[in-house]
Amino acid sequence: MAAPVIAIDGPSASGKGTVAREVANALGFHFLDSGALYRLVALAALNRGVDLEDASAVEDIARDLKVVFSADAVLLEGGDVTNTIREERVSNAASRVAALPGVRKALLGRQRAFRQAPGLVADGRDMGSVVFPDATLKIFLTADPAERARRRYKQLIEKGISANIDALLEEICDRDARDSQRTDAPLQKCADATELDTTGMSVEAVVAKVVQSYNKRASKAP
Ligand code: CDP
Repeated sequence: MAAPVIAIDGPSASGKGTVAREVANALGFHFLDSGALYRLVALAALNRGVDLEDASAVEDIARDLKVVFSADAVLLEGGDVTNTIREERVSNAASRVAALPGVRKALLGRQRAFRQAPGLVADGRDMGSVVFPDATLKIFLTADPAERARRRYKQLIEKGISANIDALLEEICDRDARDSQRTDAPLQKCADATELDTTGMSVEAVVAKVVQSYNKRASKAP
C-alpha cells in the first residue's frame, strides 16, 4: 500500500512551508517543498539567461535539474542556493515558469518520488488536486493578504534579505492572481480539502490542528 500523504496547498506566504515542515517533524514523515522545485527551475533559467517565455528551453531545464535536498540546504548543480531561491526575483520568476504545462509535467515524477514510508507531508499549490489526488488529508491554508505580506517580510528580514512591505503585498497579490488564473493546475481549493484560515493563529496552533485532523482521519482509514 502507498505511504500516506498530507497535502497542504494554499496561496503564497500563507505559512504552508513552516506548517508542513513542522507537521512532518511531529509525525516523523518526509517533507516535500514543491515550490522549491519551481524556484530552482526559475533560478537555473535566470542564471543561464534563458527567456522565461521560451517554454521549450525552460522545460529542458526542469527535466535535467541537478538538485539535492539535504536537511537544511538546497543545492543546485552543487552550489548552495538555500537563500537565493527565496529572493523575490526568484519568487516572481517561479510563478511564471510554473504556468508552463511542460514544466509541471517534467516535475511530476520527481515530486511523486518523495512519497515513501512512513508518510509524506507535501506543500504546494496542486498537491491535493494533481500530484497526490489520493492524499489521506488535504488542507487548504489561507490568511488575509496583509498578514501574509507581514509574515513574508519577517521571514526575509530574519534571513538578512532586505524587503519592503508594500512591495511585498503587491507582489503577493500579483502572484495570487497569476497562480489562480493559469489554465494548468491553478491554485484552488479541491472539493475534498479542509480550508483553514490562519489569520491571527500561531504556527503551533495550526500545526496542532493539522496533526489532530490527520490522526482522526488515519484512525478511520480501512
Ligand atoms: O513560499 P511561497 O508560498 O510564496 O511560494 P512557493 O510555495 O515556494 O512557490 C513558488 C511558486 O511556485 C508559486 O508562486 C507557484 O506559482 C509555484 N508553485 C506551483 O505552481 N505549484 C506548486 N505545487 C508549488 C509552487
